Amino acid sequence: MKKLALRYEGKAKRVYDTDQSDYFWVAYKDDATAFNGEKKGQIVDKGEVNNQLSALFFEEIEKAGIPTHFVRLLSERDMLVRRLDMIPLEVVVRNIVAGSLAKRLGVEEGFILSRPVVELYYKDDKLGDPMVNESHVAAMGWASVEHAREIQTLGFRINEILKKILGKAGIDLIDFKLEFGVADGKVLLGDEISPDTCRYWDSETHEKLDKDRFRRDLGRVEEAYQEVFRRVKAALV
Ligand code: TMP
Ligand code: ASP
Repeated sequence: MKKLALRYEGKAKRVYDTDQSDYFWVAYKDDATAFNGEKKGQIVDKGEVNNQLSALFFEEIEKAGIPTHFVRLLSERDMLVRRLDMIPLEVVVRNIVAGSLAKRLGVEEGFILSRPVVELYYKDDKLGDPMVNESHVAAMGWASVEHAREIQTLGFRINEILKKILGKAGIDLIDFKLEFGVADGKVLLGDEISPDTCRYWDSETHEKLDKDRFRRDLGRVEEAYQEVFRRVKAALV
């Protein structure tokens, strides 16, 4: 598999063309941003953790019968993925109140929701990724009503899969963000699943083991990323 021209550079990954037009080469970076790119920094070896941890999660999600873009790892920092037409939405699933939901509802972080919540955000940096609902999605043509419903249902199913793995690793899954795309008319999970895109709290101490350590300047950022990777690997053997 050959890495060809850079097709797209995001805040955390670079996407390259390959010699097969249906596949992309994804290179994970150590660059970290928060608050819509306002805060910038680096998390040493984040690329290695997020690439390999995402691969582990994608494999488990595939085993449960949900298709993902993941094909195989190419190196510690690189993976081969299927090319998708991305749906321009972020699907956020929450088990415990934190972050923007705590602010929006005036509820303290840590409040346990009686059932998981799903939210949709329209991906647009200029607008700060506004929250939208199914009817906005269909009316704006960002996805069909069927696909809008499917990605929310898949969000809940993926939540159950991730909670189970992380539970074995002594980690509570607070919330996370997914992105989906379409290939051959079918919806597939894309993007990544990592400490950049999830909130993980230690089940015993409730210590934050995710990007909130960077967002909120809590220190021990690299250690948290490594710790999650180490524990999830151990939970899957
Ligand atoms: P929020 O509480 O800031 O809305 O974040 C909810 C979840 O989504 C949290 O696990 C972090 C993740 N997330 C991203 O992956 N990318 C983003 O741009 C934002 C705002 C959140
Ligand atoms: N990834 C987003 C950004 O840079 C926000 C975040 O993860 O907090 O802006």
